[in-house]
Amino acid sequence: MTDDDFVEKTLVFLNKLDLEFFQNFFVYDEIDSTNIKAKELLNENLENGAIVIAKTQKSGRGRFNRVWESPDGGLYVSFILKPDIDVEKTTLLPLLTSIVVSKTLSYYGLSSKIKWPNDVVVNKKKIAGILLESDVYKDKLRYLILGIGINLNVRGDLFSNELKNIPTSVVSELKKPVDYYDFLKKLIIELEKYYSIFNDKEYFRIVSEWKKLSDTLNRLIKIKSSSGEIIGKAYDIDDSGFLIIITDSGEYKKIMSGDCFYFY
Ligand code: BTN
Repeated sequence: MTDDDFVEKTLVFLNKLDLEFFQNFFVYDEIDSTNIKAKELLNENLENGAIVIAKTQKSGRGRFNRVWESPDGGLYVSFILKPDIDVEKTTLLPLLTSIVVSKTLSYYGLSSKIKWPNDVVVNKKKIAGILLESDVYKDKLRYLILGIGINLNVRGDLFSNELKNIPTSVVSELKKPVDYYDFLKKLIIELEKYYSIFNDKEYFRIVSEWKKLSDTLNRLIKIKSSSGEIIGKAYDIDDSGFLIIITDSGEYKKIMSGDCFYFY
């Protein structure tokens, strides 16, 4: 596929989908980061949701300001949503997105799990990551950007050796590439389905689905966050997606965000 083809082909593909929540499409061969682009686009008074896609990213970003390596063959997409929802429920959206990615992978026979809050892993290796960025003003959510990076048809040797946790990819797991547009279509349709469940405030469905896919619950874990480190057993998630852990001393702690580590 030449670069020109990618933009045109992707726009034609998206326009044919007839989506409920996303009507604006922005496609690039190469940009810094689809999440950064999404933030710029927000100044353009988008009335509905939008999808931003790039074939490759020069400065793809992950959680905790990490680099998200974005070679050709991966899927790099950000969804812009301007929802009128309870700010306190936004913590459910990264969880929801990880369910969406996991369900999409299952169409290809790949069984994945979710490491809290939203890393999608296959055979203990990360295959996809999610970066949610939002802006809250006076208790009102002004926007929400859901950035998804999926190692789709990316050969293992295209990732740098510096990555601490060796990732995997769909092509490595299946031993054959998948069709980019077929995968993207399934992903977007799943997202619309789960986002509509979210809009209907059926939060319990998202929480129970996440629990079924969880790789973290019942494990001894360490959470690192700006307020320090906590070690304990992952006990549950509550109806806002907060992780509840029981420490050695038997205390229950609720955790909203942080980096999760296992003691294998
Ligand atoms: C993580 O696991 O740390 C999250 C990774 C999120 C990567 C995606 S790729 C599309 C979007 N644009 C970015 O710069 N990051 C997200």
